[in-house]
Amino acid sequence: SRSIRLAVIPGDGIGQEVVAQGLKVLTAVLPQDVKLETKEYDLGAKRWHATGDTLPDAELAALKQHDAILLGAIGDPSVPSGVLERNLLLKLRFAFDHYVNLRPSKLFPNTATPLAGRPEIDFIVVREGTEGPYTGNGGSLRTGTPAEVATEVSVNTAYGVERVVRDAYERANARPRKKLTLVHKNNVLVYAGHLWKNIFDRVGQEYPEVTTDYLHVDAATIFFVTQPERFDVIVTDNLFGDILTDLAAAVTGGIGLAASGNINPTGEFPSMFEPVHGSAPDIAGTGKADPTATVLSVSLLLRHLGFEAQAVRIEEAVAADLTERGDAVRSTDEIGDALAARVAD
Ligand code: IPM
Ligand code: MN
Repeated sequence: SRSIRLAVIPGDGIGQEVVAQGLKVLTAVLPQDVKLETKEYDLGAKRWHATGDTLPDAELAALKQHDAILLGAIGDPSVPSGVLERNLLLKLRFAFDHYVNLRPSKLFPNTATPLAGRPEIDFIVVREGTEGPYTGNGGSLRTGTPAEVATEVSVNTAYGVERVVRDAYERANARPRKKLTLVHKNNVLVYAGHLWKNIFDRVGQEYPEVTTDYLHVDAATIFFVTQPERFDVIVTDNLFGDILTDLAAAVTGGIGLAASGNINPTGEFPSMFEPVHGSAPDIAGTGKADPTATVLSVSLLLRHLGFEAQAVRIEEAVAADLTERGDAVRSTDEIGDALAARVAD
């Protein structure tokens, strides 16, 4: 019989609350014969305060043994900015070679969005996850003086760009509209821009059925708001993808609904699924957090592990729940319970 060995990192702030709901829905949707084994890892702000640890090697090795990771949120105002982000979240993405950061955007019914009533919005952003300005290459000269100079180098390798571009073509080719848009800024960032565009064009020759488009990132932000229906699959670098996916979430129903998967497509390492939102310390513990983004991340997780029917079931439950939810304000728990009841039906 089948089994899922899942690592769970609730993390900080609302991470704890939303992950509990994600697990509730996961348990409810899985067929009886699938054995779910979860192991919780205590990582995040509390652990750092207690021990100074962010992600010790022993735990990284233990995490590697799982089929997938479900993560809530990382980051807390009591920890200096960047410590947990870099030494825990980004360390996981780099160590497990999550080169495809998959972020779907769908306009669900009844969501508070400036674009309500617009034509269907249903696109995915394939954000590169292991390179760009996220590699920590750079430095500072004459730090703290009026003559300070800081550099932050964006690393783009042909190997790294080609594998993510290829993944994006595969995804576009498998969708009905078969359209892939490269977003970059090759009028200014000429070296990285040309690398991306050349590889995008070359790999595209292998996918004659995929329609391609190129947009500068600034122009793309306009179209996200004025014409989001023009997008099907978008491929872009790590930093542009970070910014664009927050914008995408804001225009398609809010950050409370945005799911993501940090995918290692080769299967060498476990992929990691997490809501796009952060730890929201301002509402932590109040029961106000919307667990839907985490529940939708569980859907991505199931799809990745081959449980397509269960993944669809969750998406349908979310759509139905949002339709019925209307303007009613419900707690984290109530939303989790409602979704679990729907998928179990
Ligand atoms: C995200 C977050 C992270 C990122 C931060 C917390 C390092 O904003 O997952 O989008 O920039 O990738
Ligand atoms: Mn972000």
